[in-house]
Amino acid sequence: MANQPYNRVMLKLSGEMLVGEQSMGIQPDVIGRFADEIRDIRDTGVQIALVIGGGNIFRGLAGASRGMDRAHADYMGMLATVINGLALQDALESRGVHTRVMSAISVDEICEPYIRRRAIRHLEKGRVVIFAGGTGNPYFTTDTAAALRAAEIQADVILKATKVDGVYDRDPEKHTDAVRFDSVSYMEVLQRGLKVMDSTAVSLCMDNDIPIVVFNLKEEGNIKRVLEGEEIGTRVYTATN
Ligand code: GTP
Repeated sequence: MANQPYNRVMLKLSGEMLVGEQSMGIQPDVIGRFADEIRDIRDTGVQIALVIGGGNIFRGLAGASRGMDRAHADYMGMLATVINGLALQDALESRGVHTRVMSAISVDEICEPYIRRRAIRHLEKGRVVIFAGGTGNPYFTTDTAAALRAAEIQADVILKATKVDGVYDRDPEKHTDAVRFDSVSYMEVLQRGLKVMDSTAVSLCMDNDIPIVVFNLKEEGNIKRVLEGEEIGTRVYTATN
């Protein structure tokens, strides 16, 4: 990729988007399309680490809001991310992409345990590394897992691929005059409570100076556009003034 500004990236995929037109689960053509896009960027030589959410199967917070014990619900959510990680691994490997799934919770029969130095080695060998099981702890989101792993593996950026095309000053679904930011500082995100990632994830990125690019995954080819430096979505970073 000629203008490739990044060498190692953390791609955060929303689990919810795997649902496609269904009401839950994993739609094969949706995961197939994501895998095609990931293969194409892997082919450019970019090292790719991935964290995928579990919202298409089970979301801990939603469980807790219906009366479940929060920690218990979060463990179920973590298992959901392992399922999604394995589904993405299958889709990528059927396209000839070497992958490793590394889990923060112990499920040794089906994937590797997370070992930081080993994850970096896999990336250096051109393998796509899928981090599953969140941070391994309840009360943390998969966004926080993405921020934590990005810091650990020294990723250049977090690409937060989601169903909206960036960060708005208000909910664009409720306010037709909502304005999208081209860029915004971490501090403004935190102070205004802007919906990017939860505050733990944003703080971790701020403290470790990891830029976040929030962009719409529904539009095909967007991952590549971001990686080529095209200014789509919203960039969250440290304000220089
Ligand atoms: P290199 O040593 O860099 O070549 O890495 P590698 O991942 O190929 O080496 P290893 O021999 O450790 O792994 C071979 C295969 O076993 C890979 O597909 C790994 O994902 C898998 N593997 C390694 N450790 C575990 C584990 O604890 N559980 C499971 N389920 N698979 C594992």
